[in-house]
Amino acid sequence: MSQSLRRMQYAVRGEVVLKADKLAAEGRKITYTNVGNPHAVGQQPITFYRQVLALCDLPASCGVDHPNASQLFPLDVLERARELRGIVGKGGTGSYTNSQGLAGIRKHVAEYILNRDGHSAYEGDIFLTNGASTGIEFILNGLISHDHDAIMIPIPQYPIYSALITKLGGRKIGYELDEELGWTVTEGELQRRLNEAKAKKLNVKGMALINPGNPTGQVLQRKDLEMICRFCARNGILLMADEVYQRNVYVKDRKFISAKKIAVETPGCENLELVSFHSTSKGLIGECGRRGGYMELHCIDPYVQSQIYKLASSALCSGVDGQLMTSLMVKGPAEGSDSYTLFVEEERAIFQSLQRRAKKMVDGLNRIDGITCNQAEGAMYAFPRVIIPQSAVDAAEASDQTPDTLYALSLLEETGICVVPASGFGQKKGRIGFRTTFLPPEDDLEVAIGEMARHHNFFCQKYS
Ligand SMILES: Cc1ncc(COP(=O)(O)O)c(C=O)c1O
Repeated sequence: MSQSLRRMQYAVRGEVVLKADKLAAEGRKITYTNVGNPHAVGQQPITFYRQVLALCDLPASCGVDHPNASQLFPLDVLERARELRGIVGKGGTGSYTNSQGLAGIRKHVAEYILNRDGHSAYEGDIFLTNGASTGIEFILNGLISHDHDAIMIPIPQYPIYSALITKLGGRKIGYELDEELGWTVTEGELQRRLNEAKAKKLNVKGMALINPGNPTGQVLQRKDLEMICRFCARNGILLMADEVYQRNVYVKDRKFISAKKIAVETPGCENLELVSFHSTSKGLIGECGRRGGYMELHCIDPYVQSQIYKLASSALCSGVDGQLMTSLMVKGPAEGSDSYTLFVEEERAIFQSLQRRAKKMVDGLNRIDGITCNQAEGAMYAFPRVIIPQSAVDAAEASDQTPDTLYALSLLEETGICVVPASGFGQKKGRIGFRTTFLPPEDDLEVAIGEMARHHNFFCQKYS
């Protein structure tokens, strides 16, 4: 088999999670906080989305054309379902679509980007993907052809990047996010890492930027985004802007700004090659299982774009369910329509609860002696740092484990809480910690924080 596949690691579903699944199969109650999967831990779907999706799938005679349809569904839901059924065409939701995705839905995405950024977008530059993941995979596939091809990735990072780069046989160049500076990156750090890569004769082709950050939760400010975009433009590096958490910003003094907006507005970025990713898995939707998402190609050479199209064609097309969900994500019910009030209420309730839970989790962790955690400005995770006795570090090394894996396994066994060790996100050696989502319901979260505190004392005593 492929040795690159053997070397590939994906901590979010790694050793600690496998152990959790085993314990769950034996009847143990496990609190899964390892993955950002909102519906799996109780988030309810937004009514408008599900109504439209159901009507897109149902045969017309049982749904949109049923004599009682207008008693069962709001008028705007019926209209939206009819519009989408028209876009899908005669074959219905069971047919393959254009490999790039349905043109009518790509148009909705382009309109969304125009409204968000104030700059035009073109349906021809949009690819509908199975979540953000397949888009990321397409682009990495397009960049990496041998072991001198390198991609800059944040440290810590969401491990799909390290996993896919390893699988494709490329090289990772980590650039460190500075915990003391609220997980931002400096230009000096980027330049240092690029120089090191060049000294090793590596060809740095791309750079991943996750904003808002996973696992670190920071929301980048305009000046940082400008610096990053200029750096990539100056050095001919394609920027992969992973913006799946663009609706998940919880603090008043931060606002999501897209890399595309910066690329268009910033002098020195005229030639920046940029691919931006978005997804229906996160935000206030959380419909991870539908596998909806898109990528927008900006300033990419038409020949290269045609090769990406060829790659997308080899995967036939993204799932129609996800394509429909993507349309709904970018085009909700119109203001004043029948569904509008309920939709806004449902979104607001989800957002406010996420905001409360983000604060509750971080404040709770910071109350534990020996644990510190930066504010989660955005996304769905807390990424605390943990101080543990040296003898625990020695014990981990003696058993060929990272110290944070020892800690996370102990937390799991003692409390049933499943987190991901920080080393799984490439966190630098000596920084021990873990990533936990704050997605469980608020009461469960309170209990989980209490259990984390109890376990931390237990662990430190055991190894002191
Ligand atoms: C930063 C980031 N990018 C991409 C993804 C992939 O999400 P999906 O493929 O479900 O859109 C995730 C999932 O957690 C993520 O956190």
